Amino acid sequence: MPIVKFKFEDLPAGFSTPSGFYAISQKPGKITLFDMTCPHRGGPLTHGFYTSDGRIVCPWHGTRCNREKIERRTQPAVRIGDCVLFFTEQPLEKIFVTIPLFE
Ligand code: FES
Repeated sequence: MPIVKFKFEDLPAGFSTPSGFYAISQKPGKITLFDMTCPHRGGPLTHGFYTSDGRIVCPWHGTRCNREKIERRTQPAVRIGDCVLFFTEQPLEKIFVTIPLFE
């Protein structure tokens, strides 16, 4: 299982692997990884937009996803010293400096 590793002070807003899109949430004392991979065909919900009723629209084919469902698809992070580790199915591909949905 690949490990995606960042220095804590350099944590990005998210990242992608060849098969998934992820957003990183930082709250005091807790770092969470959200699986933002569209359930339709694996599109980037990280780059979607909100509807007026609060659902996220995938930019690839327009599937609408409930934010609550996405917020349940979380994975823990492991912090070791000044590093944060995430366990993913594929290795790191791209880093997202910002994710507008979470701003
Ligand atoms: S991959 Fe998201 S709508 Fe098709």
